[in-house]
Amino acid sequence: MNKVEVTKDVYWVGAVDWDVRSFHGFTYSTHRGTSYNAYLIADEKIALVDTVHEAFADELLARVREIVAPERIDYIVVNHVEIDHSGSLREIAAAAPRAEIVCSPRAPEGIQRYFRLGRELRTVKTGAELKLGRRTLRFVEIPMLHWPDSMVSYLVEDRLLLSNDAFGQHLASSQRFAEDIAPEIVMDEAVKYYANILAPFSNLVKRKIPEIVEMGIQPKMIAPSHGVIWKNPQTIVDAYLRWASGAAEERAVILYDTMWGSTQLMARAVMEGIVAEGVPALLLRVPVTDRGDIMKEVFLAKGVLVGSSTINNGMLPTLAPIMEDLVGLKFKGKLAAAFGSFGWGGGAVTEIETALKKAGFRLFGSNAQLKWRPDEADLARCVSFGREFAKALKEHKAGDSTQ
Ligand code: FEO
Repeated sequence: MNKVEVTKDVYWVGAVDWDVRSFHGFTYSTHRGTSYNAYLIADEKIALVDTVHEAFADELLARVREIVAPERIDYIVVNHVEIDHSGSLREIAAAAPRAEIVCSPRAPEGIQRYFRLGRELRTVKTGAELKLGRRTLRFVEIPMLHWPDSMVSYLVEDRLLLSNDAFGQHLASSQRFAEDIAPEIVMDEAVKYYANILAPFSNLVKRKIPEIVEMGIQPKMIAPSHGVIWKNPQTIVDAYLRWASGAAEERAVILYDTMWGSTQLMARAVMEGIVAEGVPALLLRVPVTDRGDIMKEVFLAKGVLVGSSTINNGMLPTLAPIMEDLVGLKFKGKLAAAFGSFGWGGGAVTEIETALKKAGFRLFGSNAQLKWRPDEADLARCVSFGREFAKALKEHKAGDSTQ
């Protein structure tokens, strides 16, 4: 794939990583690969905004060479230190020896520790501008979206927002624009990305988007550093505002694991009850379901039920990472409940409820527990439990109401 002109004299010079299947230390599955997007602005001054993962440095430089000699680059903008975007910085900086490296005030420590460039860095605060000739690059810090150093770069005259991680998707494609790909694929990856990376910072997202608009930044196009570029950015901006508010669909996700099958029977009966009330439900056995996908599904649903057999007076260890993710990702406004079977003594349901409360979910008024193998009467009670949960879910207001 060659360079791609995003808008006049602005080129995508990044790299597509077709092979990567996990991110952030195996906590995020990238079933569809990803891309590391970098953009070259060829004005009187040449600016490169972001770089790529270090394994792709040669690809970036080859794409730059199709436009200008790398030695001519005047500025390398580091919107974010994380190494998927800056990993090739040492090599790119060596190829562009006179380039000034521009970053947010929080970035130099990370850049120096990772790359030891032996070069002065130019820090820019919100509102700072670089005149490139006919164009102006303006910077806006977006701390904690999703790192303290994060910032975005705005090409004022073109109304092009180079948004780094924000509005991204882990999606490898031969296409560079969202509008050239099936919307359900792009949005599926965009929401998974939001749920797994940005959800803990939803309050900031809600504040920052209007703040940026008030600064006169109203992009015609948003070009993130992963995935495809939004030619019609209102779609993704509206989705972010909706997701940040905690809006969710009227459906339930049932997460469970089972030791000898009793909790599985319960899970199926609970689902039967939920569905009987007209609420769609998704049944996911945790050890055979991808962790990042589970988070996406829970994020999208108003209701979540977690079930486990009891072992060592607690839940099955297979559920532990999922409960940790739910606590860490701080989804808003979910109605939640626990269920599970036990043999000699219980404990799983209590442990699950503690974790659900810690995650900020509103606990449904009851749980479902039973000893040994469920009989018909037990399963009927599980169906009723599911029905009652579904009724409560219909009344439950998603969003900020749980905290
Ligand atoms: Fe926060 Fe795509 O790195």
